[in-house]
Amino acid sequence: MSARHFLSLLDCTPQELESLVRRGSELKDLRKRGVLFEPLKSRVLGMIFEKASTRTRLSFEAGMIQLGGQAIFLSPRDTQLGRGEPISDSAIVMSRMLDAVMIRTFAHSTLTDFAAHSSVPVINGLSDDLHPCQLLADMQTFHEHRGSIAGKTVAWIGDGNNMCNSYMEAAMQFDFQLRIACPEGYEPNAALLAQAGDRVMLLRDPREAAAGAHLISTDVWASMGQEDEVAARMATFRAYQVDRALLDSAADDVLFMHCLPAHRGEEISEDLLDDPRSVAWDQAENRLHAQKALLEFLVAPASNNA
Ligand code: CP
Ligand code: NVA
Repeated sequence: MSARHFLSLLDCTPQELESLVRRGSELKDLRKRGVLFEPLKSRVLGMIFEKASTRTRLSFEAGMIQLGGQAIFLSPRDTQLGRGEPISDSAIVMSRMLDAVMIRTFAHSTLTDFAAHSSVPVINGLSDDLHPCQLLADMQTFHEHRGSIAGKTVAWIGDGNNMCNSYMEAAMQFDFQLRIACPEGYEPNAALLAQAGDRVMLLRDPREAAAGAHLISTDVWASMGQEDEVAARMATFRAYQVDRALLDSAADDVLFMHCLPAHRGEEISEDLLDDPRSVAWDQAENRLHAQKALLEFLVAPASNNA
């Protein structure tokens, strides 16, 4: 199938990603100025959610409507996907009716299987392995506050999860140094770590990772699908809470990011989202603008010809 997909940041060139980030800011400006911009009139995005979501669902749905199109929410509970219809068959059928498909799933192979049989672009709205759309928003947010991230140092504190894996891909694509501080047994994807080479450093001590960093980011200690591990993880990750003191040890102009939802008192201190160095709300808003740029990039506008 010839459609262009966005399953990972590595599906784009660094130049394409740079343009997406800039375009996200331009589309944000158009929206702030109340300019109507509807290149995707009559285009339809299907959204398959196997996991819960607030930001991803809203930003894709609102984004499609703002671009002049529509989005349809699909859950395995209400479709034949939940009753065992093969991913490949579903992909063939759905992509004959839709102009793009966004999938939030557990196994990353669901995305790759679907994409292999889809005639339209498939977008990763989060898998157990990666969360590339969040990274578009994070990179846009950094750029808006501090300019280029190239050559900067980013600290990832906590679980080596899907977000951490996408930060490793971002380090390669946006050319920054990444220091990951995680407990033993919670390391990120080994193949990506090897691929990133000396761009990514794996540490145990959060203070060592945060020292002098220009961006500190973290995420929940137990991701969706890990509900059975919550108690064990709470104990293991206790020393990995990000608080104001940790930000004080970073660069003077450090930013703090969290993809949200956050658990105050766990991976972040109660007051961290109120700290002026936190840009978590801008980050959340930028999901909308960054993904509108992505949709504009991936989805062909309808032709005017009859
Ligand atoms: N950050 C993020 O993906 O949020 P949701 O789970 O609410 O979509
Ligand atoms: N790591 C989290 C991110 C949620 C947006 C999860 O997968 O649940």
